[in-house]
Amino acid sequence: MKVLVVGSGGREHALCRTFKQSEKITKIFCADGNAGIARVAERVNIKPGEIGALARFAVENRIDLTFVGGETALALGIVDEFERRGLKIVGASKQSARLEASKSFAKDFMRRHNIPTAGYEIAESPREAVEILRSGRFGIEGAPVVVKADGLAAGKGVVVAANRLEAERAINELENTVGKEAVERIVLEECLFGKEVSLLLFADGEHFALMPPVRDHKRIYENDAGANTGGMGTIADPSLLSKDETAKIIGEIVEPTMRGCREEGFPFRGILFLGLMMTPDGARVIEYNARFGDPETQVILVKLKTDLVEICEAILNQTLDETAVEWETGSSACVVLAARGYPQKAQTGDVIYGLDKEFTDVNIFHAGTAQDERGNYITNGGRVLGVTASAENLSEAIKRAYRAVGEISWNGMQYRRDIGK
Ligand code: AMP
Ligand code: GLY
Repeated sequence: MKVLVVGSGGREHALCRTFKQSEKITKIFCADGNAGIARVAERVNIKPGEIGALARFAVENRIDLTFVGGETALALGIVDEFERRGLKIVGASKQSARLEASKSFAKDFMRRHNIPTAGYEIAESPREAVEILRSGRFGIEGAPVVVKADGLAAGKGVVVAANRLEAERAINELENTVGKEAVERIVLEECLFGKEVSLLLFADGEHFALMPPVRDHKRIYENDAGANTGGMGTIADPSLLSKDETAKIIGEIVEPTMRGCREEGFPFRGILFLGLMMTPDGARVIEYNARFGDPETQVILVKLKTDLVEICEAILNQTLDETAVEWETGSSACVVLAARGYPQKAQTGDVIYGLDKEFTDVNIFHAGTAQDERGNYITNGGRVLGVTASAENLSEAIKRAYRAVGEISWNGMQYRRDIGK
């Protein structure tokens, strides 16, 4: 079987590696990949947003299965385009991807289906958002407010403002950081407090299979200080959610979401990602993503025992209920190594040292990497590597990851020393 993975980050490197382990796979292509992916897959020079070109590539190269990593291609309708041409593809349809691509759509969807989430109001322009805040009809005077751009914003569209004045400032600045289109609507949200957990699931429209719960570390600096990033590290650990919490989340969130998508005519097929806040009143949905997370995927896939191809086939055939999706016991941790200047402007082109060493139960997934003419691996993006370790327990997984991190270096490398703490 020939598989095509769409994307170029650490998530896609982890996907390619996992496909490589399947006996059913004879060849992996990745559009457009990175220097680490090039070791397991043939790189294809097409960007994820070029969905017509990707579909033509899949037809011409008789690709048996395509797997989409990120949100850009999903929101553009890559799945609909491939299916129209009779090509097999795993990912959310354009309609399903609105759960991620439009925060106002997701909030109204949750309201329609009684899915627990933060209270909110939708403004049709930045000016209306400010008016709503000033009217006093939203939120409590002096309390924090969360300001969210409606559209896709690569993690930069959310500001947790300490008070109304800060929220107004955030509204006025949002257009500059995320662009006009993403702020055609703005969501104002009540600020929730608690621990954040992400729960991802494979979904076939009708049935689902949960993945192990994970936690992301979004801020650039230790102790959750500084700017939000795409994610500086993750852990997968069974203790992040108790059995009771998981059962409640299934009943109050997962099942109503799956049912709601069916009722509204877009059965959810692909990967559904629930960003949750565990409040004293129970789990609340902070956001939906219609895809695997990066770097959530890295810690999840190193624990997957079942052949990923089998799971993909079950998603396509709507037989996930008949497929046992199995996971290794224990925990895993991923420490992201980022370039100097990330998340603002990352410095690229620095030679990476220490990649020749091998460590037991450690995978070094490449994100922003390239090779120079001498064959050295060099930095080529903000997040450069995701050092991912698994072990029987979390503290050992973290120790293993940092031991490997200690061997890697480049000019300006930055990372958090508190992943999983
Ligand atoms: P999102 O892109 O919607 O996941 O938001 C990015 C981050 O902002 C989340 O991971 C949370 O840390 C924070 N956040 C978003 N919405 C809320 C909320 N209603 N209350 C508190 N924090 C939030
Ligand atoms: N790590 C967060 C995301 O992929 O959305």
